[in-house]
Formats: sequence, structure tokens, C-alpha cells
Amino acid sequence: MQNKLQLPAVMVIFGGTGDLTHRKLMPSLYNLFYQGLLPDNFAVVSVGRRDLTDEEYRNQVKESIEKFARFKLDEELWNKMKEVIYYVRFNFDDDDGYVHLKEILSDLDNKYNTAGNRLYYLAVSPEYFEVIVDKLDVHKMDLEENCVRRIVIEKPFGRDLASAAYLNEQITRVFKEENTYRIDHYLGKEMIQNIMVMRFANSVFEHLWNNRYIDNIQISSTETVGVENRGGYYENAGALKDMVQNHMFQLLTLTAMEPPVNLETESIRDEKVKVLRSLQPVTEKFVRENMVRGQYGRGEIGIHNIKGYREEDRVSPESDIETFVAMKLYIENYRWAGVPFYIRSGKRMANKTTEIVVQFKSLPKILYAKDMDLQPSLLVIKVQPKEGIMFQFNAKKPGTGNQIVPIQMDFCQNCSMENDSPEAYERLISDLIKGDSTLFTRWDEVEFSWKYVDDVTRIWRNEKTQFPNYAAGSWGPEAAHELLRRDGRQWWLV
Ligand SMILES: NC(=O)c1ccc[n+]([C@@H]2O[C@H](COP(=O)([O-])OP(=O)(O)OC[C@H]3O[C@@H](n4cnc5c(N)ncnc54)[C@H](OP(=O)(O)O)[C@@H]3O)[C@@H](O)[C@H]2O)c1
Repeated sequence: MQNKLQLPAVMVIFGGTGDLTHRKLMPSLYNLFYQGLLPDNFAVVSVGRRDLTDEEYRNQVKESIEKFARFKLDEELWNKMKEVIYYVRFNFDDDDGYVHLKEILSDLDNKYNTAGNRLYYLAVSPEYFEVIVDKLDVHKMDLEENCVRRIVIEKPFGRDLASAAYLNEQITRVFKEENTYRIDHYLGKEMIQNIMVMRFANSVFEHLWNNRYIDNIQISSTETVGVENRGGYYENAGALKDMVQNHMFQLLTLTAMEPPVNLETESIRDEKVKVLRSLQPVTEKFVRENMVRGQYGRGEIGIHNIKGYREEDRVSPESDIETFVAMKLYIENYRWAGVPFYIRSGKRMANKTTEIVVQFKSLPKILYAKDMDLQPSLLVIKVQPKEGIMFQFNAKKPGTGNQIVPIQMDFCQNCSMENDSPEAYERLISDLIKGDSTLFTRWDEVEFSWKYVDDVTRIWRNEKTQFPNYAAGSWGPEAAHELLRRDGRQWWLV
């Protein structure tokens, strides 16, 4: 049972007419409101360029909630909620707009007793992060004695280490690190939060969580969709920057971190950063031997013929951007020395899934394993679309023989009860209101992951690629399978 959030505040959404606001933020706010969790003194002001009245904007939000919220729209509740949603139109670089916004916010403070507290949410493309932060500073909307002023920055946080560092400097010049909330929405997902609970609340797992008992760990995030309408953005990113730098490294750090000294935000973040700092250094040889990149060509998914990446909208016909990446990493510490972490992420793959597979070491070739090839025990943490945990182990096949077969204990968290799992953004917004930044990334996490990704990119830039090298609807390039095969392993599809 959750308690109502307490901070009186106005949430200002820059980019209030955009896709993210309509598909995620407003539906999540409604879900929180529906559960009675939003603070009593709370209002939302959306900023965009479109010419809309409050009423027109509210109607658009209502449609989005009907489409995307996990709870059915309740007219009575909506009529209450819509009263605290406002729309302001101005261009992000227009000073008069901020003057006007400031007046509105001050009126809302009086109307709703929101005490001058502000949650600035930058649901805008990265080119506007700096200008908005700068204007908030110029118009003295960043600091106010005894008031809470927090800022949320959407992904991507930079294009590389240099741009991320520059952006960080601009933000932290105005907002303190503890008031800066860098979103990685994977961290809001239920099963991601469950990784720590599973590890540190179950003796059966934590005692085995090391190189004595674990053979390898596989972290996969595959999608069946292509770049959709994001070709322009993707051409400057690719799978390594779009997925590995943020989401995949977050999964890696939570899986591999040492137990924190306590459950406080900074203690957890300290341990996550140590994992990134312990990664085997990137060299040309290392990249050549342990990293595979791919780009999808034409193929089939179900009954649909799919075009290749180079034929997508706003993508160069000669593009050498990767839509798939696979890698083998080592974490150089006592817990993980010698255990490979295989990571892969790709678009237009055969299946959509995000999961972590922990493969335990096989038993010596004696007793049952003497004459039979026994399957290894696997622990699978399913992040999406199914959320749950599966444990695979060996048991006797019922009957008179001595056949041993792998069986699976499968716990699916979101299968039985519809609407049971909160949206990632629901959790993240609620933590933002609480002032808990554990599920947001600290600057040094961003810094170390960009450094790693930059080192790989620099090496890749100098090496010719043979793209496309996997068919849409497949499991990625042959080299990604070879990466494990030569170690006597395979990617698990469970
Ligand atoms: N969409 C998603 O599901 C998603 C998921 C994860 C991360 N993100 C990140 O979230 C951010 C926003 O993405 P999005 O998909 O919502 O983008 P979007 O649909 O293009 O929306 C952009 C928003 O910014 C406003 N805007 C743009 N330029 C402006 C200007 N000069 N002055 C005032 N308003 C301006 C637009 O207003 P008008 O439309 O009124 O012009 C619109 O509200 C991006 O950083 C993206 O990478 C998005």
C-alpha cells in the first residue's frame, strides 16, 4: 500500500505537446491520480509551441489518457484532474515566455498552495536542454529560498563524453547535482528494481552470485521494430549509444554490483559506478575479438516483408550505423574475474524481449553427468514485455527410465493481473516528487559509460564494416553467435 505523495508542487513540462508527454507522462500522472497518490496541492503546466487553449489542451490529454493509461478513464476523476492542468505557449528561447510562465506559476502557488516548489521536466529534444536551463537561470526560476526546485533531463544525455560533460556543466551551473534527475526509464521498470531485491533479500541467490558458481551472464534487449520515424536521430546514434551506453550498462551494473553499505541513494550509486570502473579496458584487440556490430537488411517478420535499415526514412543508403551490437565484457574484480558478461541489443530481431540470463556452472562429469549431457541451471530475470523470474533446473522425467530433463519454475508478475505493474514513468515521477533519485543516473555513471562507449566508437570508426549483415526478423549477425560458440557457449532464448 503506497502513501499519498506529500510535496506540494507545480510540475512544469517543457514539451507538453510532444509524444513523450502524451504517451507516457500524462498517462502516468493520471495513473498516480487514480490511485490517490498525487499530492493534494499539485498542478501541471505544459509548455509547447502549438496554439491551444487550456481547454483544447486538456481534451488532447484526455484522449491520450484514454489510449495509454493503465487505468480506465473515470470521468469524475478526470474532471477533477483536468482542473489542475494548464497550457502555456511560447518558444523555448523567448524571454517574454518565461516572464509570463513565472507569473502563471506564482498565481498557481496562491491558488493551490504549492509553496513555490517546482519540478521542471524537460521532455524536449536534447538541443533545447541548455537553452531552457539557461533561461530558468536568467529569470531566477532555478533557486528560491526554502523552495524545492528539481529538474528532469530526458535521454539522451549527450552524444558522447565531451557533449555530455558540457551539458552537465551547463545544468549543474544552475541546478545542484542532488536536484538533477537524469532519466533512464529502464530503471523505473519493476523487474529492474527487483534485481536488487532478488539478490540482497534471498540467501539462495546472493551466496551463489560470484565466479565460483556462475559460468556466464547474458543481458539481452531485442526489438522487432526498426527505427520507425527516428531515422534522423538514429543515424547519429546507433545501438551502442542508443541502448548500451545507458540501459544495458544500467542492467549490467545492477546485476554485478557489490552489496551497498545501506539502501540509500548514494550508497547504491557508488557500487554501480565501481562496476563501470572495473570493466576491462578497451583496446583495438579487445574490440576486434569481443565486439560485434550489425545492421539489418531486408527480411521477414511474421507475414510481413521488412525493408532494410538503409532503405528507412531519413537514413543514408550507405549508412554504416549499427542497429545491433553484441559484446563480451569482463569485470575485473574478485567477484567476477573470469566470468564473461555477454551483452546484446538489436532492432528488427526475431523477438521482442529484455532479459538477464544467469547461467550457473555445470557439475563435474560424474554421477548423472557422467553419461548424459545435462543442461546447466539458469536463472532468468525477465524485464519486458513479460516481467518475472524463471528458474531452470534438472529433474527426473516421470516414468520408469532414468532420463533427466530441464524443468522450469516460471513466475510471471504481469501475466495474471492486468494493469498490475506500474508504468516505469509512474515510479519515476513519484520518486521525483519524493526527492528520491536512486532510480536516476548520477553524473559519474553517465561519465564512465560514455567514456567506454567513446573508446569503442573511436576504434570502430577506423574499421570497415560489411553492412547489412543480418536479415530483419533473425537473431542477428552470425558473428554474434560465433562470439559465444568459440567459448563453448550459446545465447539462451528462454
Ligand atoms: N517519445 C518517447 O517515447 C520518448 C522515450 C524516451 C525518451 N524520449 C526523449 O524525450 C524527449 C522528447 O521526445 P518526444 O518524442 O516527446 O519529442 P516530440 O514529440 O518531438 O516533442 C517535442 C516537444 O517540444 C516542443 N518544442 C520543440 N521545439 C520547441 C521550441 N523551440 N519551443 C517550444 N516548444 C518546442 C514541441 O512543441 P510543439 O509540438 O507544440 O511544437 C513538443 O511539445 C527527447 O529528448 C526524446 O529523446 C522520448
